[in-house]
Amino acid sequence: MSDRVIIFDTTLRDGEQSPGASMNTAEKLRLATQLEKLGVDVIEAGFPAASEGDFEAVSQISKKIINCEVAGLCRTSRNDIDRAWNAISHAAKPRIHTFIATSDIHMKYKLKMDREEVIRATIEAVTYAKSLTESVEFSAEDGSRSDRDFLCRVFEAAISSGATTVNLPDTVGYAIPPEFSDLVRYVRKNTSNIHQAILSVHCHNDLGLATANTLAAIDAGARQAEVTINGIGERAGNTSLEEVVMAIKTRPNFFPMHTNIESTLIHSISRLVSMITGIIVQPNKAIVGANAFAHEAGIHQDGVLKNPMTYEIMQPETIGLSSNKLILGKHSGRHALKSHLKDMGYELSDEELNLVFTKFKELADKKKHVHDEDLEALVTEGILRTADIFCLEYLHVSSGTTVRPIASVKILISGRSTEGTAYGNGPIDAAFNAIAKLTGTESDLLRFSVSALTGGTDAQGEVTVRLREDSLIALGKGADSDIITASAKAYINGLNRLEYLKKNPFQASEVL
Ligand code: KIV
Ligand code: ZN
Repeated sequence: MSDRVIIFDTTLRDGEQSPGASMNTAEKLRLATQLEKLGVDVIEAGFPAASEGDFEAVSQISKKIINCEVAGLCRTSRNDIDRAWNAISHAAKPRIHTFIATSDIHMKYKLKMDREEVIRATIEAVTYAKSLTESVEFSAEDGSRSDRDFLCRVFEAAISSGATTVNLPDTVGYAIPPEFSDLVRYVRKNTSNIHQAILSVHCHNDLGLATANTLAAIDAGARQAEVTINGIGERAGNTSLEEVVMAIKTRPNFFPMHTNIESTLIHSISRLVSMITGIIVQPNKAIVGANAFAHEAGIHQDGVLKNPMTYEIMQPETIGLSSNKLILGKHSGRHALKSHLKDMGYELSDEELNLVFTKFKELADKKKHVHDEDLEALVTEGILRTADIFCLEYLHVSSGTTVRPIASVKILISGRSTEGTAYGNGPIDAAFNAIAKLTGTESDLLRFSVSALTGGTDAQGEVTVRLREDSLIALGKGADSDIITASAKAYINGLNRLEYLKKNPFQASEVL
């Protein structure tokens, strides 16, 4: 059996199914490029039959990615398979991923099909997909709750029809590790042609067991893990890439196998996904949470200073957390910035570097030390930039215990300056009201979150907003040492992105 575990990343498909996580095509392209650098074997780029936007994103990703397989998801109907194929056919390495449910409850209530009909649909779909491309994956949705012998029959039929990978999902996150590994062993023993395909698993985290189930399945012989960055995904999410990869890397005695992942890029891609989706990583999240390598207790700190291995089972550098975090200040030049960003996993174009460098200098004038977290915020502001229609020129806010909060704002709208004031329930509300009035926009604020990027009273506050106007949703980000200014910047960034989406309904890639 192979000693390599194939990493199938579905951040762009199942991950995007996280409530409120929708990404535009430009963001998906950016992420796909980083996933390629990270070394994932397969990028599931989307579900092309689901929407025009999905189709467009999958096509663009297929044209750009060279080193990974690009998979398009589809149900078993011809129409779905054709949509998926049309979107991925430009890819250097295309993969059709077709699925149908195999549990009694799904077949009876959702599909209204009996077992024989599901077998026939599987054979037809896989045979047709195989006529289009060599790499075909078949998934038995709700596999973990399916009748074991029927599951083996379906896999056998899929493999005989040409499937090169068969995937066993724990769709509803119901499995328990020993039970799931037992199922994997059962499938391997009772599917006669299983050696002709890769056996994959795809777990959800409803009971907090997605990673445990995936690792148990790998131990039992599965050789593809379907994962997402930060574990984002439908409901409680999917198995997280970083947890599986680092468990395999950290415990080679238990997992005598490897992945192709460049682990030093894990931290930066985790931040990128969080920034693009607006889903904040919980501080105690394994591997990538802000506290994952922080030692609070005195005894622990003392031990780590004497020998890091006393309390650290992984070195922070392994996931790309740089040990030297305080090296940049106002005297640092463009070259130092470029090379430090590269160490952090960001390779920027000259144009992007110029933008980040200008903002870095502005920040370094205000703040003595520029931390990695500050730089990440600057990079992300660059990434999330569109050709701005609205630019904040000036903001003045008056608030306190005895005054009604009022904001005066000056904004450039397509180069024309305009100013006005508005009251609000608080200073941020007042600033938002003034901006909405001046820009003549009517968006709903779906989400507002603020976090400190670093410690200290001069820390920058990072604000994320999620705005909706009609059916369009956009994320806005802003960072500043003044959180009211950061909020105004985030709001204006979100409005610019909404304007962009209005003009580019399929979210073309020039946004970068
Ligand atoms: O959870 C699931 O079953 C899926 C399949 C489409 C693989 O996402
Ligand atoms: Zn899933």
